[in-house]
Amino acid sequence: MNNFEFKNPTKIIFGKDTIEKLKEEIPADAKVLLLYGGGSIKENGIYDGVKTALANVDFTEFGGIPANPEYEILMDALKVIKAKNITYLLAVGGGSVIDGTKFLSAAAVYEGDTPWDILTQNIRTEKGMPFGTVLTLPATGSEMNSGAVITRKETREKLAMGGPGLFPKFSILDPQVIKSIPKRQIANGLADAFTHVLEQYMTYSVDAKLQDRFAESILLTLIEIAPTMLKEEFDYKAASNFMWSCTMALNGLIQKGVPTDWAIHAMGHELTALYGIDHARTLAIITQSHYKYNFEAKKEKLAQYGERVWDINEGSVDDKAHAAIEKTTAFFKSLGIDTKLSDYTNDYEGTAEEIAKRFTDRGWLGLGEHQSLSPEKVREIVEMAY
Ligand code: NZQ
Ligand code: ZN
Repeated sequence: MNNFEFKNPTKIIFGKDTIEKLKEEIPADAKVLLLYGGGSIKENGIYDGVKTALANVDFTEFGGIPANPEYEILMDALKVIKAKNITYLLAVGGGSVIDGTKFLSAAAVYEGDTPWDILTQNIRTEKGMPFGTVLTLPATGSEMNSGAVITRKETREKLAMGGPGLFPKFSILDPQVIKSIPKRQIANGLADAFTHVLEQYMTYSVDAKLQDRFAESILLTLIEIAPTMLKEEFDYKAASNFMWSCTMALNGLIQKGVPTDWAIHAMGHELTALYGIDHARTLAIITQSHYKYNFEAKKEKLAQYGERVWDINEGSVDDKAHAAIEKTTAFFKSLGIDTKLSDYTNDYEGTAEEIAKRFTDRGWLGLGEHQSLSPEKVREIVEMAY
């Protein structure tokens, strides 16, 4: 096992009817900016619950943060933070609203002129404006990690940021919020969390037995609950397991002491930036070609995953590893998620070259657990995903 340090300061408040506990978490003297997305919270009652809990809190609202949170819109929110002397942020939403809030937490204390530099220059935030979250969509794990991904339409870019100052102070996870989520977004959440685990697992063995089994247990849980989550009727038990699995998939725990990959996400973000494809679906597009292309480097882990997660016990290591890739693709398809770029756009010619060029321009010359995935290899992988 590799050396590691682990600190996750986010307080999780999990369970039925926990939104009312908001009032116990926000400091009495805070001037709060309540941030939300396109309005789903006004239709499903979450907004009302939050407002009731904030009855004695001095707060202002900012709605309209879109999926794949957009820099220009966030800059409008930053103006509100400055104009109203806001001291505390409250995100009520999915990964997009929470990520947008993390950007604002960093931008509010940033001393440079252009907050976009936080993303392009990889400026880590050691201490941001404090914020809490009410999670409305399990998927990203953003509610218990310190990373964010921000989009800039103007330049068709989607870049990541983070730092130890960007953990939420608290996150409220009430599985009942899942009732109103469209099945398309449930499928996205399952696929995103599943791929988060794969990115931290499908590398090479360092004999980290516990981390491997943490990872496998999250994958097994997601596979087990997926059919129930996609049914029409709401199932609180499955919803609870779904929500907690998504959080555990990317709160830092399973990646400690092990090599991680994250190349699928790096390539996937470009597909969202270029074509607006949902984040989770971009991952489903890239995964199989990434694993096929890097088969030799990953086959031991692929075979272990095949055995322990998919119960593939016949054949050689190579056979099991190939079968495991097929099972993964079939899992995405069982969620109703297409796994080829051409399923989403007819305009894909040249995409691989464009992504490889972007990575070269940014100096991303070696991605993956061996830092060996050059832009040329990225080009080949993306092309395989057409
Ligand atoms: O905007 P509203 O009206 O709220 O609607 C949202 C949005 O349209 C809707 N929704 C959310 N909760 C709902 C609901 N609809 C009905 N009932 C509810 N309870 O769902 C739509 C998608 O929301 P969004 O927040 O965009 O989805 P998700 O949570 O999948 O977040 C995706 C973003 O997170 C980033 C992605 O790149 C993408 O920008 N990620 C963040 C990560 C992180 N911070 O650690 C890691 C991930 O890998 C990912 O990159
Ligand atoms: Zn993701």
